Amino acid sequence: MSSHPHLLSNVTLGALRLPNRVIMAPMTRNRARADGTVPPAYGEYFAQRSSAGLLITDATMTSPQAVGYPNTPGLWTEEQMESWRAVVNEVHAVGGLIALQLMHCGRISLEAWQPDKAMPVSSSPVRAATTMLRTPALAKGPAAEPRALELNEMPGVVAQFAQAARRGREAGFDAVEIQAADGYLIDQFLRDAVNRRHDRYGGSAENRSRFLLEVTEAVAKEFGADRTGVRLSPDGTYNDMRDNAPLDTFGTALRQLAALDLAWVHLGSMGDTDLCRRLRDVHGKPFMLNGDFTAESADATIRSELAIAISFGRAYIANPDLVERFEIDAPLNTPDPDTFHGGSAKGFTDYPLLQDVEIEEY
Ligand SMILES: Cc1cc2nc3c(=O)[nH]c(=O)nc-3n(C[C@H](O)[C@H](O)[C@H](O)COP(=O)(O)O)c2cc1C
Repeated sequence: MSSHPHLLSNVTLGALRLPNRVIMAPMTRNRARADGTVPPAYGEYFAQRSSAGLLITDATMTSPQAVGYPNTPGLWTEEQMESWRAVVNEVHAVGGLIALQLMHCGRISLEAWQPDKAMPVSSSPVRAATTMLRTPALAKGPAAEPRALELNEMPGVVAQFAQAARRGREAGFDAVEIQAADGYLIDQFLRDAVNRRHDRYGGSAENRSRFLLEVTEAVAKEFGADRTGVRLSPDGTYNDMRDNAPLDTFGTALRQLAALDLAWVHLGSMGDTDLCRRLRDVHGKPFMLNGDFTAESADATIRSELAIAISFGRAYIANPDLVERFEIDAPLNTPDPDTFHGGSAKGFTDYPLLQDVEIEEY
């Protein structure tokens, strides 16, 4: 076998030694309890997928105000921490590595999910032209009108990320990923289509990346920079996002992140584009990349040194043994979008392993 890095070769990400470069992308599955604790099924779900180089959890909320969707996990209470500890223990018992993704939804929320039915917060009072999941039955409707966070509220929001990271460390997670992508709160500060502030958190790219930097420094202080990753989506339009100068915005953010020497930077839904290559040059090292990859395109992107690892989302929902399938070039199960969000074990822990299918066919 060639010694050149490839999809199935091992790799070091900061303090983590991964057996392969197939990462399970973070995915919100809306099967947490109403109090933000995760039920035992989460342990089974992640343990089933433990041959991944690294598992990344569902976006986990840093505070009650951070919540934007029904039945998402949290990490602001001891009970939530204990429920995650049980999941982590199950993954470690089968030799897996698991990172916690932390998120604040910001304006991608509804008064119904907020404490005291308050307005959701954002960088600026700009409503997202997008639809939101509502219960019952996960029906959809418009996002709420947000209010701008006051300057004196900023340290508190940063501290909630740090506190959740501390609980994540206590729960035994191997690493933490900050969700700064996909139009959630940190991205609402980063990108100029939403951020209309005139204080030190708005205007220039330096100012717009200040909140990201403060959160990342605070989380890295709790977890260690070598166990901290950041997820960004420089060209993503999800949740009504845009930026007029993504190379400037994300180049500025990445230059500052590079100084922190993080375990990884994960670019969501970004293939081998010119912007990605230019940002890699700013960043100075390959990214963890995501979005519509196959085993072949993932392998080629790692060999081209654009990516150090590739995360797989939907393929991991449907294929707990994705690594083993990639190893022998086996066919993949097809994911069922109807069971992505909410529900029971169906579409969560019941996708068949290759060996189950082979036994059945035999
Ligand atoms: C059901 C579902 C939930 C998702 N939830 C999250 C999330 O919580 N955090 C996040 O960063 N990305 C989330 N994503 C985006 C995925 O991480 C990934 O970027 C996306 O699925 C594209 O990768 P793929 O083509 O390999 O599926 C989600 C995607 C899906 C399908």
